[in-house]
Amino acid sequence: KDDRIARISSTIRVIPDFPKPGIMFQDITTMLLDPVAFKDSIDLFVERYKDKDISVVAGVEARGFIFGPPIALAIGAKFVPMRKPNKLPGISFLPLTSVTFFQFNNSSHRIICYVMSCHVISGAVISEEYSLEYGSDIMEMHVGAVEAGERTLVIDDLIATGGTLVAAINLLERVGANVVECACVIELPDLKGRDRLGDKPLFVLISST
Ligand code: PRP
Ligand code: MG
Repeated sequence: KDDRIARISSTIRVIPDFPKPGIMFQDITTMLLDPVAFKDSIDLFVERYKDKDISVVAGVEARGFIFGPPIALAIGAKFVPMRKPNKLPGISFLPLTSVTFFQFNNSSHRIICYVMSCHVISGAVISEEYSLEYGSDIMEMHVGAVEAGERTLVIDDLIATGGTLVAAINLLERVGANVVECACVIELPDLKGRDRLGDKPLFVLISST
């Protein structure tokens, strides 16, 4: 087995009962303090994805923002943030309803409304609600960040129940992305998150029981 994996594993700290009783929190911040382990983790992902024709790395806030950008830069892909609610500045779908107020019979006005609504859609934010090991949350992305058919990698630090990655895949597929694989530093296999991904491939560096 790659010694780099052993070094990465040794730098991850496990904190019992955080953020709630019963949760064994896998803390990757201690890995970030070891530049060799951190770089090894990025290199392992880059080695896997560099020749896979991936044009989008989608990172899940917050900890997917640590691993996603260096991978995206190294493989020459764009980085797309999948964010917590109300953080992205794009227009939400609410303005679309205003289009229905303009019931013009004049066809040139109808065309203007149609063009306006297309702009709203391309600058829009779309949302997915999802459940977590400890609670529920909403994830958002900008429509227009990813073109239909783009080969996309989803990255996060950890998969527990898989709810977070399912939400990310759903958002990306709603805009027509081709989600090729999900990748995480750590998998908690006991929580069977991998099963929730169906036939979507999952690559992890460490499986932690
Ligand atoms: C943690 C972790 C993953 C997610 C995994 O994020 O970073 O994103 O939970 O859980 P799941 O597989 O059960 O969905 P969290 O939402 O706690 O917040 P953070 O990354 O913003 O710290
Ligand atoms: Mg997270």
